[in-house]
This record gives sequence, C-alpha cells and structure tokens, in this order.
Amino acid sequence: MAKDHSLMEDSNPSSNPTIHEVSNPSRRILLRGAAASGFLAPLAKVSAVGAAAASVAGCATLAGPVSTGPLLGFKGIPVGTDDTVRVPEGYEVQVLARWGDPVGLSGETPGFKPDASNTAAEQEAQFGMHHDGIHYYAIKGSEAGLLVMNHEYVDDGLLHRDGQSNWSAEKVRKAQAAHGVSVCEVAARGGQWAVVTPSPWARRITARTPTAVSGPAAGHALMKTAADPSGRRVLGTINNCGSGKTPWGTYLTCEENFIGYFNGPDQPDAHQRRWGLRKGNPAGYRWHEHDVRFDATKHPNEINRFGWVVEIDPMNPSHTPVKRTALGRAAHEGATVAMTKGGRAVVYMGEDARFEYIYKFVSRDAVKPGGFAANRDLLDHGTLYVARFDANGRGVWLPLVHGQGALHAGNGFADQGEVVIRSRQASDLLGGTKMDRPEWIEVDPQGWVYCTLTNNSNRGGKDQPAVDAANPRANNSMGHIIRWKEDGDHDGLGFQWNHFVLAGDPINEREQAKGNVKGDTFACPDGLWVDGRGVLWIQTDMSTSAMGKGELAVMGNNAMLAADPQTGDIRRFLVGPVGCEVTGATGTPDGRTMFINIQHPGESPSERSDPANPTRFSNWPDKGPQSRPRSATLVIRRKDGGLVGT
Ligand code: FEO
Ligand code: CA
Ligand code: CA
Repeated sequence: MAKDHSLMEDSNPSSNPTIHEVSNPSRRILLRGAAASGFLAPLAKVSAVGAAAASVAGCATLAGPVSTGPLLGFKGIPVGTDDTVRVPEGYEVQVLARWGDPVGLSGETPGFKPDASNTAAEQEAQFGMHHDGIHYYAIKGSEAGLLVMNHEYVDDGLLHRDGQSNWSAEKVRKAQAAHGVSVCEVAARGGQWAVVTPSPWARRITARTPTAVSGPAAGHALMKTAADPSGRRVLGTINNCGSGKTPWGTYLTCEENFIGYFNGPDQPDAHQRRWGLRKGNPAGYRWHEHDVRFDATKHPNEINRFGWVVEIDPMNPSHTPVKRTALGRAAHEGATVAMTKGGRAVVYMGEDARFEYIYKFVSRDAVKPGGFAANRDLLDHGTLYVARFDANGRGVWLPLVHGQGALHAGNGFADQGEVVIRSRQASDLLGGTKMDRPEWIEVDPQGWVYCTLTNNSNRGGKDQPAVDAANPRANNSMGHIIRWKEDGDHDGLGFQWNHFVLAGDPINEREQAKGNVKGDTFACPDGLWVDGRGVLWIQTDMSTSAMGKGELAVMGNNAMLAADPQTGDIRRFLVGPVGCEVTGATGTPDGRTMFINIQHPGESPSERSDPANPTRFSNWPDKGPQSRPRSATLVIRRKDGGLVGT
C-alpha cells in the first residue's frame, strides 16, 4: 500500500550512508563479468545447509527435485497489458482460493456474494483480501497439503458494497477480518487442485485473533496498554506481506506497513515520528473511529505491539500465534530462514520502507529434530544484526545487543526489550546502511542471499541532500536485486556483496532507468522465491499509479520472471491481469505444481476503488459484467506434468 513515494513512509533522519552512496555502477558490471568466468562457483558448505534442514524436518522442498536439462527450459513470453494471466506455451493456470471463497471452517462455509454484501462474520470464515506471501506444507507429499497465505491489506472500495460510506463498527470488523492469514487444505484430484471444505486444518487468523508475545519485549512497559496490562497478549496481526517457512514446520508472517492503521496526534513525539506515525490517519483506514486501540492519541503503546514477525503452527488450528520479538521490530517485508552447518536458524529480514534497513537473526540454539514441539522457543533466543554495506564490496553485521556499543541506557535503551522495540533507532546509532525499500530475501543453493530493492527516489531521507549528483543511477526508479555471500556460513559477521541485476530496460536512453537485464526486462522487483531446483523466481510490483506510464510503459502489467542465478539469464514466465501485483510463490516438493498469488487485480491509481464502479479496471478472475476483481491464488503446471520452469 502507498506505493507512491510522495505518500510513502519516509522516516529515517539519520546521517547513515545510503545504499546509493556505497554503490559503484562500474563495479557491478565487473562482477557480472566475473560471474561468467566462474566467480560464482558453488561453495560446498551450502549443500550441507540443505542437508541439515532436510534431516531436521524432512523438508523436501530444500532438497529439491532433480532434473538433468537446463535450469530454464521454457520460452519467455512477451509483456502483456490485458486483463488475464499469460504463461508460456505448454503451461496451464488454474484459479484457486479467491478473496471471499470459504476457507473451509467446519460448519462455516459462506459463499462469496458478488456485490460484496458478505458480513464481517462471514468474512471471518472466508479468504481475506490482497493475498501475499504463501507456503505449502505437505500432508500427502505433492498430492495434498496445506496452503498458508497472508492477506496484506484491503481496498474498502471493493470490500464493502458502498465503500467507506456509512462507516461503521461492522465495516471496521469486516476490514479486520479480511486481513491476516488463511490456512486451507488443498488436494489434487483428477488433474485439478481444489480447496478441501470443510477441513480440520482450515483457519483464519485476523486483526482480532488473540496472539502471544514472546522474547525480550514480552511484558515490557512499552508493550502494555489499557486493554492488556500484561504486555503479552495482542489482538491480531496486520499488513501481513512476505512470509517465511521454518525447517521445523511453522509459518512466519510479517507485519509490514502497520503504522498506516493508526491515528496520530497533531505533533507526534520523536519515537512516533521515527516509526512513521503522522497526524490523523493519512492512509485512510479509519479503524480508530470504531476500535479505539488504533487511536495512538489515546493508546500510544499500541503501535509498539505491531511490526513483528509472527510464528504460526499451521498443523495445529488451536495454536496461539506468537510475536517473536527477538527478531526485532520493523516494517517487515518477509522472514526467510536459512540454516548454518551446525543447524542454527538464520532469519533474513528486509524492511520495506524508504531508507530503512536489512536485518538478520541468528538463533542461539541449533534446531532439534521433532518439529515445532521440539523448537517452540528457538526464535526467542539469539542475536539480531543490522547490515552495513561498504563501498569496497564488503559488508558487516552489527549486533543489536543491549550494552554493546551505542546501545545503552545513556542512549535511551534501558534493556534488550527497548532495543528490539526501537530497533530503527538502534540501527541508526549502529550505522546500518539505509536501503532502497528492501522487499523479499531468498537464498540460492550456492549460498548467495538475494534481496529485492524495489525502488526509491534519490533523496537521502528527510533533511538530507539529494545524493545523486555524481551517480545518475542513484535515483533507483526501476529497482535492483542485490546479493551477498556470508563469510564462512550464514552466521558470519561479514560478507561480500554486489548487484545481481539492475532492473529496467537496457536500451532506455535515460541512464537512471537503464537496466542490465540479460534477457526479458522488468521493473520494481518485489517477491522472490528460490525453488527446489535453484531457479530464482522474481515477481514485480510496479505501483498502479505509475504502471503503463513513462519509462514503465514498455513493461506492461506486473509479471513473474525466472532467473538462472549462475548465468544471470532471465525469462518472463507469467504476466498478471490489469492493475495487479504478482507476489508470493511456493510449490509442491516434486517441483511439478507451483502456487503464486495475484494481489489487488484492478487496483485504481488511488489504491481505493470507487464502490460505484468496482469493475472499472478489471473483472478478473470471474470475468462477468458485474464481477468485481478478486485477489486469488494460482496453480501453475506444465500440461505434461513436467517440472515447472523447464
Ligand atoms: Fe507489502 Fe513491501 O510489499
Ligand atoms: Ca511486497
Ligand atoms: Ca512492493
């Protein structure tokens, strides 16, 4: 949400260097050349990471299906601008799990009402809006499993028959019910996948679901509110964007742009400003009008209770989700788990806000065999780090540990709880590098860690001068994908880094919009997934207000591409319908079924639809004359049942 830079959160006033200032375009090109000369030779250590993960949880997706042919075997497709989904010849697409379809709760399977007249209670039993991160959890190998997915935000113009007119507690409750996470059972029958309804695993987690707090911020004074004097029990999770899957079988959902839900005071204090709280409710969710905890003028600590990574056990529908505060607080895009050779979990996290940071968490303990039951507290103990990228192609992980360096009471950090709650301020003091909206992070079989820097403007933050005078590429309008490789293992304290690719059309005449893509072009990379064969899938999120205009006109609709990490070849695999973003990807262990999400098809440039004309931009996927657009999960397969991507 709020993908227009003029509306987007921009709250980092620190003088820390930006990624622009430490980037050197000529060095990027040298490193791309080095890739072809064997610079990217696989490291033996990383295959041990996959082996360790597989031995702990039997996680077949990390072991991966085997193919002997080239990594990418399909013919890339052209850009598209029409209101449909396009895939390469030989592939088929099935729509599954649309907003408003019943998720499969026993005795509660309300159908979707095409005029959006479903009640809040019905929405609580249906898939939410704006699907995002997604993972598959096998029940019966590649034939049946659970899909767990995020619902990031809502478009009130589509969610309610009359939009935000006649605003009410019922409408707030419906909006809250359309947020969060869905767990559904899916099975392949007769060549088609279906959501199993009812299912004993089906579950909705919303902005009102009781959620526990663990780790150093649990019970902290800054987490206590009138409704929760314990500081250990929060209602719900919001703006769930990217996600992660742990080797012990749980789902990590991330709270991204949470601040937009709050009503701020006329003059926010320094802490509130650093977290983007502004006067009023500029994002326009209006929840505070009927749910007072979202009024930060009355309950200032409620903002501290969001921005966490939340762990969910999808196999246990009665499990209370847990906010894992040891992983730090941020506008978390995603949480990607790698493992060290010794079996410790490393969680990589980007913060999608302008000039915010990249983090990693290294668990104190090794993952134990036995699934979640044996690893219930694993994410409560460990060390959180913020990344500093240096101009010499090296980088350092800086620990956010109370009492170390600048993080002491004299600088306003009473304890580790305060360090994780105020992790942005801690990172400012430590000297983390201000990034270009880091979105998803993924790890390839060679151990490279990839991060999409979706786009940014050239400003160095509030009150900072423009930094693009000497570097025309500094205005990152098209997005980059950077990558790094840790020294030794994923718990290394240093790393080497470079740019995997600069998005943008390589023949664009304007230097700042020119890319170096080898293959099919794209802009504004966001979602990433490395599949079991090592293909790096790239999903794009050009903002609806900018899509189809200016330099983005040649890019068409948002899309998904496949990259070969070793050769740098990139091919366009899927083009989404009008006004959508493509986000979230997962697959069955055999590599023959892929699931992805199409988010906000038909989104209006204002990101809130006109309720009088809900089909103005799209009627995908139902395609009837009155069919309002609906986010949906797609099933993608090769028609001959082969490996996806070949
Ligand atoms: Fe929710 Fe940064 O995308
Ligand atoms: Ca995203
Ligand atoms: Ca995005």
